[in-house]
Amino acid sequence: MLLMKDIVQEGNPVLRKRAHEVKLPIADEDFQTLREMMNYILNSQNDSMVEEYGLRPSVGLAAPQIGISKKMFCMHTYDETGENSYSYAVVNPKIISFSEEQTYIPSGEGCLSVDEEKNGLVPRAARIKAKAILVNLETLEAKDVVLKLSGYVGVVFQHEYDHLQGILFIDKKKESMSGIKPVIFTEEEPTAE
Ligand code: NI
Repeated sequence: MLLMKDIVQEGNPVLRKRAHEVKLPIADEDFQTLREMMNYILNSQNDSMVEEYGLRPSVGLAAPQIGISKKMFCMHTYDETGENSYSYAVVNPKIISFSEEQTYIPSGEGCLSVDEEKNGLVPRAARIKAKAILVNLETLEAKDVVLKLSGYVGVVFQHEYDHLQGILFIDKKKESMSGIKPVIFTEEEPTAE
């Protein structure tokens, strides 16, 4: 299983590369990478695993963060209402439209690859539309989809997507969010890693 020592930290050049397209059909080792990333996220949302293994909680993890420069990431989180859960193993995503309207997570974004002290406010598109391949990690079925995401889950998707372009949230951090409406959480806010 992946531990914090396996997560590449800021300063490592792999985080600054544009990741390669995943070759299709998806190879066994790529399925394995997706499974490992999803398992890290799930473990990091389990209090006893966090304590036992010293995991930093997260809702998303991209392949470059474990040193693999391929266009893959996983995310697992509830939306801001706490009612809908999103669990995606994503391959070769392409965001095809960004809304002009922006939003941000009021408590700021963080990243497993960046020191927590650097958490900060990041303007993001309020809504996105993306093409991607979603993998069902139980059946290994891979499906072409078009996703329309908004609010918190849209922000998480954009954060992970940026990792595949060599971009970190600290590149986009701003001091002021004046004129931008925040994501409003009606449930306890998940960690925004
Ligand atoms: Ni990150």
